[in-house]
Amino acid sequence: MSVDLVVVGLGYVGLPLASAACSAGVTTVGLDVSDEVVAGLNAGRSHVGDVPEAAVAEMVAAGFTATTDPAVLATADTVVLCVPTGLSASGDPDLSAVRAAAGTVAARLRAGTLVVLESTSHPGTTEEVVRPILERGSGLRVGEDFHLVYSPERIDPGNERFSMHNTPKIISGCTPLCAKYGVAFYGRFVESLVVSRGTREAEMAKLLENSYRYVNIALVNEVALFCDRMGIDVWDVLHCAGTKPFGFAPFQPGPGVGGHCIPIDPRYLESKARSAGFTFDTLSAARAVNERMPSHVVLRAAALLAERGAALAGSRVLLLGVAYKPDVADTRESPAYPIARELLARGARVSFHDPEVAEFEVDGRPIRKEHPLPEALADADLVVLLQDHSCYDLVEISSTGRALLDTRGKSAGGSVTLL
Ligand SMILES: NC(=O)c1ccc[n+]([C@@H]2O[C@H](COP(=O)([O-])OP(=O)(O)OC[C@H]3O[C@@H](n4cnc5c(N)ncnc54)[C@H](O)[C@@H]3O)[C@@H](O)[C@H]2O)c1
Repeated sequence: MSVDLVVVGLGYVGLPLASAACSAGVTTVGLDVSDEVVAGLNAGRSHVGDVPEAAVAEMVAAGFTATTDPAVLATADTVVLCVPTGLSASGDPDLSAVRAAAGTVAARLRAGTLVVLESTSHPGTTEEVVRPILERGSGLRVGEDFHLVYSPERIDPGNERFSMHNTPKIISGCTPLCAKYGVAFYGRFVESLVVSRGTREAEMAKLLENSYRYVNIALVNEVALFCDRMGIDVWDVLHCAGTKPFGFAPFQPGPGVGGHCIPIDPRYLESKARSAGFTFDTLSAARAVNERMPSHVVLRAAALLAERGAALAGSRVLLLGVAYKPDVADTRESPAYPIARELLARGARVSFHDPEVAEFEVDGRPIRKEHPLPEALADADLVVLLQDHSCYDLVEISSTGRALLDTRGKSAGGSVTLL
């Protein structure tokens, strides 16, 4: 028996891809190293916010199964790798999952198969890391025996307007024929495809997109720090500048940059640049600014309490929203971690409220989850809004009279201080 598609890595990227493929009538199997992920999906449970349980039920009804058994790879026409590309303990790119997954595929690769890498990585990964593993492990040749494509994922968790279906997708092949196979595959369920000149251009385009956000966020963060020093209202500055109908893209300052992509991907670019003897000055400067923001929030929190005759030590500080972006449950790289860590180190009694996040712990220390919100607000000496989930009624929250530090600049009122 053969299947159209095996998705390797069923996380925030792989599961929506498998779901979109199933909806388009592509027979799909998911392969993951996690027993928990596989068992959950086969039981109809979703572990990814953007894929509701009903969508998993539809996938299962369409014949989708998840497995930890790599034997399924030998039956696939197309294999897409959606495995993590994080950082090592030293902050360097960690391609171990990509290497492991490519090795697993290589051992079962059949002639004629299309292999796609979707994981974000630095230019050269497809040609210099994945290709040799596949060729050596299978004895087959790219462009002659099988096809190899890089196609970066552009998923935006929580975005209801743009999904995989209507977000243009970049396709690149190791050879023009590889790219053609990529176009034929993704054309089944993505409206608009953009073919890049080669795989390195596609890899670089993905890093540019995320570095662009990272650098621009750093710029407004630094503007916010400067405005704070000068007593200028940064939110009004941003409002005014944002009225320019051309040549200005608005970005918002905040408590830091979180998520699996924006703070991580520039590190891939910096590292690749370093190995080529090139220094990416904008990226290292942006990192220095973005990494200052959590401490700035803590300083503002301490100053706010001091104005009320209190110290951080012993004060009850409630963090509202610990996810890295609004309306998602994902806390990866969230600035809530360094903020909570620093507050705890200064003796604050930290708790959190987040309708999306069940548990939040810092360095193995569980932070108390407060619920319901009115009681949590009533118990706090200081409330720090870190994430403006859409369910938060900021008028109601600011009307409680509790000292509120709003790092998102969305609230108003006498007891509110903006970042
Ligand atoms: N999350 C996003 O919003 C997003 C957006 C664009 C690109 N990306 C990129 O997509 C890639 C995947 O990210 P994610 O957020 O889906 O990660 P994730 O951690 O949510 O999911 C990865 C899955 O891969 C599995 N896995 C790990 N090693 C494996 C292996 N060797 N074989 C099979 N399965 C394996 C894990 O168990 C996990 O279920 C990363 O390169 C990331 O940078 C992520």
